[in-house]
Amino acid sequence: MSLRFDVLTIFPDLLTSPLEEGIIRRARQDGKIEVVITNIRDFATDKHAMTDDRPFGGGEGMVMKPEPLTAATNQVRRAGSGKVVLLSPQGRRFDQKVAEEFAGLEQLILVCGRYEGVDQRYIEQQVDEEISIGDYILTGGELGAMIIIDAVTRLLPGVLGCADSVSGDTFSRGSLKYPQYTRPRLFVDQEVPAILLSGDHAKIEQWRWLQAVTKTKNRRPDLFATMEFSGKERNLLKKHGII
Ligand SMILES: C[S@@+](CC[C@H](N)C(=O)[O-])C[C@H]1O[C@@H](n2cnc3c(N)ncnc32)[C@H](O)[C@@H]1O
Repeated sequence: MSLRFDVLTIFPDLLTSPLEEGIIRRARQDGKIEVVITNIRDFATDKHAMTDDRPFGGGEGMVMKPEPLTAATNQVRRAGSGKVVLLSPQGRRFDQKVAEEFAGLEQLILVCGRYEGVDQRYIEQQVDEEISIGDYILTGGELGAMIIIDAVTRLLPGVLGCADSVSGDTFSRGSLKYPQYTRPRLFVDQEVPAILLSGDHAKIEQWRWLQAVTKTKNRRPDLFATMEFSGKERNLLKKHGII
């Protein structure tokens, strides 16, 4: 079964290049995902193909009109299975857990706002959830939609070459990832940590785990506070002065 993403936007070209590179391109080719981009302007009803208008009550900027957005949403929504997500700085914060949640869907419709935002009646009538990609303001939802497509797609079964790549990721076990090294062994006076060359896989795994926990404690105390350890792990952390 593949996941279908629909992106509703007035700037469809913004998304074409990122969809045609690397893992996302391969996932599309292999039928793991389908991405359909719909131009909201095609659903405008007036002769100037307007998708925005001045705000009632006055004020700055323009607001996206509800009719073209509604017609576009109705056109792409598959009965029963489509979740409509509006990209919005006012929404629930996107993170790895939300990505995992979305990876279980059959269809995700990503609606990209522009200008000052979107008519509230469209949001109330058509949108299942507003999602923010962080506490900052972008000029539009397109890059946010691409971030969601990217993060969700790499979680789908068979998309990454090696299943371990997902399970060892930062966040997948509630911690940041351990430091990684590749060739050469010596780079600008700095050797690769000797343990990684030892061939002792149990020791390497333990070292990586200690590094990951230490890094999480130092950089992300909020994440560290949510981590749970077994008795054996606690003893190891105490032995190394981490807790
Ligand atoms: C300039 S923003 C509008 C911001 C709006 N005036 C406000 O203060 O909430 C235009 C569009 O970009 C998108 N956008 C901006 N920042 C975003 C964020 N952090 N996360 C998700 N979408 C965002 C939304 O679709 C939004 O409708």
